Amino acid sequence: MPTPDILIGARAVVFDAYGTLLDVHSAVQRHAGSVGPDAKPLSDTWRQKQLEYSWVLSLCGRYTAFWTLTERALDYALARHPNVDPSLRPALLEAYRRLDAYPEVPATLDALRTQGLKTAILSNGDTAMLEMAVSSAALHDHLDAVLSVDPAGVFKTSPRAYDLALERLGVDRREIVFVSSNRWDVAGAAAYGFTPVWVNRTRQPEEYPDLAPVQVIDSLGALLR
Ligand code: LAC
Repeated sequence: MPTPDILIGARAVVFDAYGTLLDVHSAVQRHAGSVGPDAKPLSDTWRQKQLEYSWVLSLCGRYTAFWTLTERALDYALARHPNVDPSLRPALLEAYRRLDAYPEVPATLDALRTQGLKTAILSNGDTAMLEMAVSSAALHDHLDAVLSVDPAGVFKTSPRAYDLALERLGVDRREIVFVSSNRWDVAGAAAYGFTPVWVNRTRQPEEYPDLAPVQVIDSLGALLR
């Protein structure tokens, strides 16, 4: 199979985890019957606040484990959506520890490795939460490295977070294709010097015009086409 253009010159493909390999909305979806009609706004608020907290803390020069931010964001979302039964909190958090992987993930990772590329995760998830999520989704055998930003003590889009991929994989930043569903993460990767690919599964509008992806795809399988 010919090497797709985006992969020419690449030695590794590094993926964001939450939202890119793992479906963050599968936690609420798993309990949609109990959550009720506010399931989608609850999940959207939960995700948005989790990310906002990571950005605010990083700008303040502070760091708190992403799992703690995930718990706090859920507490905020439950307060914002009082029609949702707050006794669901433990079940929702347990579901977030074991999110579903998108269906195309294992085959895509294996196909990239068949092309001679290293595959890795670089995630804001702290080491413990990321380990549980990757094990629960049975992704370890498809990855050469699972990297949390924990050792850097700062969240993406800080360059110190992206540095972790270079240190662990032993390649130059220009040899890394960085794949994320989060357009802000794609912007950070572009600023850092990775080759950024945006997985835009939900057809979100473009933004960050000065920090553009090299390619926009609607599922991970398109990386190999
Ligand atoms: C991650 C979140 C931010 O996995 O999507 O880094």
